[in-house]
Amino acid sequence: MPSYLREGSVPHKRHIQFRRPDGGLYAEELFSTKGFESVYCLLYHVRPPTATLDVRPWERVSFGFTINEPLRNRHLKSAALQLPGADAIESRTPLLGNDDVVIAVADARRPMDYFYRNTGGDELLFIHRGSGVIETQFGELAYREHDYLLVPTGTTYRVMPSAPTRMLVYESTGAVTIPRRYRNEFGQLEEHAPYYERDFRAPILKPPVEAQGEYEVRVRSGARNAIYLVQNHPCDVIGWDGYCYPYAFNLDEFSPITGKLHQPPPAHSTFEAPGAAFCAFVPRLFDYHPLAIPVPYNHSSVDCDEVLYYVSGNFMSRRGVEEGSLTLHAAGAPHGPQPGAVEQSLGKKSTDEIAVMVDTFKPLMLAQAALECEDPEYFRSWVQTTAGV
Ligand SMILES: [Fe+2]
Repeated sequence: MPSYLREGSVPHKRHIQFRRPDGGLYAEELFSTKGFESVYCLLYHVRPPTATLDVRPWERVSFGFTINEPLRNRHLKSAALQLPGADAIESRTPLLGNDDVVIAVADARRPMDYFYRNTGGDELLFIHRGSGVIETQFGELAYREHDYLLVPTGTTYRVMPSAPTRMLVYESTGAVTIPRRYRNEFGQLEEHAPYYERDFRAPILKPPVEAQGEYEVRVRSGARNAIYLVQNHPCDVIGWDGYCYPYAFNLDEFSPITGKLHQPPPAHSTFEAPGAAFCAFVPRLFDYHPLAIPVPYNHSSVDCDEVLYYVSGNFMSRRGVEEGSLTLHAAGAPHGPQPGAVEQSLGKKSTDEIAVMVDTFKPLMLAQAALECEDPEYFRSWVQTTAGV
């Protein structure tokens, strides 16, 4: 994905008359992502999506980003944070960010009674725990634990949890895409890719909601925000087709690439975006050289900040982390296995860890919430203690 998809009823040609059973015209919408270029869809609404009853301010809180100085590695225990609000948007709390991507956590404990639309770039939601549905104008996308949900810029959606949902959110200012090196010249996933088109799940279009009323849509575009009250329900779509729509990918479907010796993070790439590269570490066999060292070597990335989010399992190379921890290994700051981790890993055949990572190629700033849940001693965690561990 994205590959061409058609759902529901569409006319046999684009931009022609397409009539409802009552004789009126369906309202065609071009859902584009980059002017009239790049990927897009055509949607057919029962009534125009433009009927706006009112526009009101949406006062969004400032998250107080500060520079990571003195430059050092950080450990954020996000599970300890008390997130504001009870839905997926009001609780969304940024921890780290730069001009390309913001990394946030959110709790969806109740359904949203409004819709949300971010026109500043794609959003990538990772479901740590929970289940439910996101309702969009493309249909309903059911989600479950360990799903990545890719929501294209401009999608109108709301999160409807059926079980309390903890998620990690990446807000990109560009398009989040499948890495180019996984695709052939026609865009199809190649044989060496760790996933295949059928591993991705598209929304299922439901019958259009034809009722009229007052529907709230909270809209973001970069730093600009507004609350729209619209007359027609956003999910009044009878059909759509094209190349741009939300989709889901579950980490259970990821087929990790393993080797005779340690594979670096790019071997585990999932997505990429301007200024950001995403990876996933999933249960897998370790390296099969008889003298292999399963845990990573020491290194300092000098061109990127690395942010690992720990989902579940035994994080062998990293002492002190817990589920929901994020480690920020900042550009230029050395990191690697903590004392004793190399020796403990020798002879291990497999790992059950699940973690997701993003590398950013501009420095990440720290939001106020990051400072509130930081383990301030983390940067000392590579120091050998007298106990020799
Ligand atoms: Fe690293």
